[in-house]
Amino acid sequence: MPPPAPPPADPVSPPDVYFNRRSFLRAGAVAGSVAATALAYRWLNPSGGAAVETAKLAGLTAPATSPAAAAALGYRVDEPLTSLQDVTNYNNFYEFSTDKEGVAPAAAGFKTDGWKIVVDGLVAKPTTFDLDDLRRTAPPEERVYRMRCVEAWSMVIPWAGFPLAKLLARVEPTSAAKHVAFETLLDPSRMPGQKTAALNWPYVEGLMMAEAMHPLTILATGLYGRELPPQDGAPVRLVVPWKYGFKGIKSIVRISLVDKQPVTTWAGRAPDEYGFLANVNPQVDHPRWSQANEQRIGVPGRRPTLMFNGYGEQVAGLYAGVDLRANF
Ligand code: MTE
Repeated sequence: MPPPAPPPADPVSPPDVYFNRRSFLRAGAVAGSVAATALAYRWLNPSGGAAVETAKLAGLTAPATSPAAAAALGYRVDEPLTSLQDVTNYNNFYEFSTDKEGVAPAAAGFKTDGWKIVVDGLVAKPTTFDLDDLRRTAPPEERVYRMRCVEAWSMVIPWAGFPLAKLLARVEPTSAAKHVAFETLLDPSRMPGQKTAALNWPYVEGLMMAEAMHPLTILATGLYGRELPPQDGAPVRLVVPWKYGFKGIKSIVRISLVDKQPVTTWAGRAPDEYGFLANVNPQVDHPRWSQANEQRIGVPGRRPTLMFNGYGEQVAGLYAGVDLRANF
């Protein structure tokens, strides 16, 4: 990725409209289906200890019933939202443009009719889902997450989505599955950036199984109470709020359960600069810039970056025994 670009001007629309307008009454839906819960528990709870605490914190034993519970789970943060204007006009999506403000116009006509997502690999029931199937998998839940880009800027975004664990439960991963690989659509006629060598196409990302099963990991299909716009990854993208934004692969067409760590796009392109793990970590600088602080888009000044982007209480247990200083 190039060095951080200057942030855009202050947001046009007020950041807290959504907080005032929306309630979090659907918090009861956060506990997930019985199948997903059982599967998630198996992955999060292999040997007890911190993982058990993580699972409890994640609400796998009791559903969240209140905004306070949702906040404790990390499902919402009480920080001003980044404006819709900035969320939808300051984007990284190299399939359309390498210019952040150029993505929205370049993606404006992107059609997602008939979209399908293949979920295959080390699973008992490989399945191709259309968008209706996806919606039947789980009703969208509201998640208000921080997003921290590796370029040292951040946003707070009200997503609508559902836990990836719920989709994986439907295909029944086998015990041989260790990682999950994700792929973006490859179609240069619809994604003009793919006619250039800006990246190796298609864009690929990946997670360890326990990360994929964590209840904070969602497939987002909307933001700000509307369908996901093309520039933010329509019709479905990954959101992993404790990791750098490049892990949040957009416009997904394939999810494969695999036994080896996949070669992911940025880590493959510049392995000295971007890793597979890519947890937000203020103590590990990018070779070309500090990760100690960040620019919240639309907010003057810089703020300290938080370990795991502020989600340590929920996810630190996943990394027991992992040397986080390497962060690759
Ligand atoms: N997914 C694809 N397919 N292509 C991309 O270029 N950029 C990533 C990620 N997902 C990218 C992608 C990066 S670097 C970031 S920071 C986030 O998307 C930005 O998401 P946003 O534009 O919705 O803020």
